[in-house]
Amino acid sequence: MTFDEVNTYITNLYAARTNLTQWQYARETELKEYIPTVDDDVARFLGVMLHLLRAKCVLEIGTSIGYSTVSMAQAVKAYQGRIVTVEYDEQVARQARLNFERSGVSDSIELLQGDAREILPQLSGEFDLVFLDVDKRLYAPLLADCLRLLRPGGVLIAEDTLFPVIELESKWHHLIAPIEEFNRAVVALGDVESTVLPIGDGVTLAVKK
Ligand SMILES: C[S@@+](CC[C@H](N)C(=O)[O-])C[C@H]1O[C@@H](n2cnc3c(N)ncnc32)[C@H](O)[C@@H]1O
Repeated sequence: MTFDEVNTYITNLYAARTNLTQWQYARETELKEYIPTVDDDVARFLGVMLHLLRAKCVLEIGTSIGYSTVSMAQAVKAYQGRIVTVEYDEQVARQARLNFERSGVSDSIELLQGDAREILPQLSGEFDLVFLDVDKRLYAPLLADCLRLLRPGGVLIAEDTLFPVIELESKWHHLIAPIEEFNRAVVALGDVESTVLPIGDGVTLAVKK
């Protein structure tokens, strides 16, 4: 059984329970040029984690058109939770804001438009969950700030961390080495328990002790 077959099985299994699919979301989005969003299975995983944590305070790094942001906002609604999300591309940030309005979740999302490398050091507070889904070359440089911004018991989730082993289009090959560097940095952390799950293109789950 291949990795893709496993993902297809899980996606189909939950199809009837998925109220916002990536496909639907992309279809309703006017802008057609943007960096791809998470798949349905990763959005579902984020939702499960947010319910497990009863999350009130979430930080996302890398918004794109906001599919994962809206999925997470719907999950944290039950706990009056809020999402802070960071995106540097002005055009996709504008589209994400439109999508938040259309989805009825704009009141629970704060979009910070700018470079995560400049924004993160200025943030404070204790987040329940940090979702890292930005340029893969920034994962390792942003790791310390992600951990600083988590409360003890809080969770870091990083997307695409199985790039070194999955079949990847050649246009993404330059991102394999930075992900490898990030993966090894996570393993070496002393105050964190972590693993990598084979969903989407690989998801790192790390709990701050
Ligand atoms: C993979 S996409 C995010 C997808 C989104 N999380 C989803 O699943 O719906 C990554 C985004 O990070 C943004 N990005 C890249 N470098 C950035 C930086 N230095 N600061 C902030 N955002 C950045 C890109 O413009 C892109 O829209």
